[in-house]
Amino acid sequence: MCGIVAYFGRKSAQPILIEGLKRLEYRGYDSAGLALLHNGAFEVFKTSGRIANLEEMLPAVTPDAGLGIGHTRWATHGLPNTINAHPHVDYTGKIVLVHNGIIENYATLKKWLLKEGCTFKSETDTEVAANLIGYFYQKNRTRDGRNCPSDCNRFEWAVQQALNEIYGTYGMAILCLDCPDTLIGIKKGSPLILGVGKNEFIIASDAAAIIEHTSQAVYLSDGEMVTICGDSFSTKTIANEKVDAELKEIEISLDQIELEGFTHYMQKEIAEQPASLETCLNGRIDLKNGRVVLGGIQSRLRELARTKRIILTACGTAWHAGLVGEFLFEQLARIPAEVEYASEFRYRNPILEEGTIVIAISQSGETADTLAAVEQAKERGAIVLGAVNVVGSTIARMTDAGVYLRVGPEIGVASTKAFTAQVAVLSMLAIELGRRRHLSNEVAENLLKELVAIPGKIKRILDQSDVIREIAAANIDKDNWLFLGRGFNYPVALEGALKLKEISYIHAEGLPAAEMKHGPIALITDGMPAVFVATRCAQYDKIIGNIEEVRARGGRTIVVATEGDDAIGPYADHIVYVPDTVDYFQPMLTAVPLQIMAYHAAVLRGHDVDKPRNLAKSVTVE
Ligand code: M6R
Repeated sequence: MCGIVAYFGRKSAQPILIEGLKRLEYRGYDSAGLALLHNGAFEVFKTSGRIANLEEMLPAVTPDAGLGIGHTRWATHGLPNTINAHPHVDYTGKIVLVHNGIIENYATLKKWLLKEGCTFKSETDTEVAANLIGYFYQKNRTRDGRNCPSDCNRFEWAVQQALNEIYGTYGMAILCLDCPDTLIGIKKGSPLILGVGKNEFIIASDAAAIIEHTSQAVYLSDGEMVTICGDSFSTKTIANEKVDAELKEIEISLDQIELEGFTHYMQKEIAEQPASLETCLNGRIDLKNGRVVLGGIQSRLRELARTKRIILTACGTAWHAGLVGEFLFEQLARIPAEVEYASEFRYRNPILEEGTIVIAISQSGETADTLAAVEQAKERGAIVLGAVNVVGSTIARMTDAGVYLRVGPEIGVASTKAFTAQVAVLSMLAIELGRRRHLSNEVAENLLKELVAIPGKIKRILDQSDVIREIAAANIDKDNWLFLGRGFNYPVALEGALKLKEISYIHAEGLPAAEMKHGPIALITDGMPAVFVATRCAQYDKIIGNIEEVRARGGRTIVVATEGDDAIGPYADHIVYVPDTVDYFQPMLTAVPLQIMAYHAAVLRGHDVDKPRNLAKSVTVE
């Protein structure tokens, strides 16, 4: 939710931190700050607003200040103003830190620290962590009066003592005034990666801030800390047990995180879909034998095919993909399936019979609610699979097995290419489970042939961007939209509405088209845009009836139809055509014009498409 970057090396930290923060800005952008440890003092700069505001207030670069921490914030506790911006210096002035996550028991800790004489400047939970570390560092003893052992690093020890008191989630980077050659990073429930370069180290909440400097990284696990001291680093648990660090190759490249001529990441990521989907499918479909080969879960497919129930769990766009997955597993594999909002599932005391499979779907692999749902499912003995994009992310590592989306970094806050790949992964899995249960090889083969044709079909939709822009422009003054679909296009209606809401701030509602007559039809007024996903599918005739109901009440219909369907003309004020495909795979096509529509609407309304207000890319807090 927030972005953390910290640098320790022989170069000047300031420009590296700023560059890193810009790469992480999609994680949160309501305030930003950095702290350098230089000449025995902390130099702290922070401000509300974007990284550009921070950059403006910075002094000239100090070449020999090689140690610093930076932060871009998405506010949870306290307004997004300068005082609440990170870094936070503790009451003793010895500790400074940046934090991503939430300290759940901060109020209790704050009360105690105030009683102990600590002072606070901000309203944040983070300052409690800074003060707690400062408290243990200064007192040099635990709450029950035990001193820091003489063979321990006191800074590290104080961090561990503080963490023993904290409940919640955190990724943190911490400096101590007395230790000008030490940088500590800790992780629990929020991502933290250590980049290991030549004579330099970068700690960041995302590989995007590291890749420019090194491709070697250590992905910290929950409950681990890294201490960089001089030219070396060590990893241990917060409980002080040694951990062997494993260096891994970062799997993203610099060009994948550049705009490469596009104005926005969302625009780039929509356009990438033919290629990203091809990469997602590549090597996983054996057309000759009508089989699917999913490396990450291959050895478990037999067991999976025997399951009696599948639960898909996710949030936001990933949940919409999960809803498509529910239909796919039921229809293709004939396995009872249901999709659950991770945020609800985690608290519902769910009943998971033996052999239930839970599939967690997540682009980032860090969404706090999805992570908690995975934990919950594991505790109850379910087999938990992941359909995750970010390699090495927490969900990817926590699940028993999984399938990566392989679409490269998705930076735009509005999820696009991850959605089509999530549906593709679930389609592959449903076909393979179906083939192992009851589908004939011939049917499976035909479905797979159709699936590999989808990327090429998306290209044809992208070519209509100008037509879609005109439709968005013609309706841009409308503040309420409906999105309606049936069958496999019902989740697409939900997704279309979410896309429009989150980046253009237009109120939109997505519904199964037939539900409209049970209430929402009362909303239809003269000229209200109603987007119908009305492609040739099993419910085609039914949805035509729903379109008529809206038109009869003065609604303006924007119809996503199948290429060659001339009969739909009289029902539509505007039409966008998509290529034909089987019902199962239609969401991968019909979602695309709605992504493009939302993109143009947001641009036409003058919004920052990649950084919509109040949002952040990955929601690592509850
Ligand atoms: O990283 P995840 O896929 O777990 O994220 C889930 C949602 O937060 C995400 O899809 C969100 O709804 C997007 N902003 C939608 O565009």
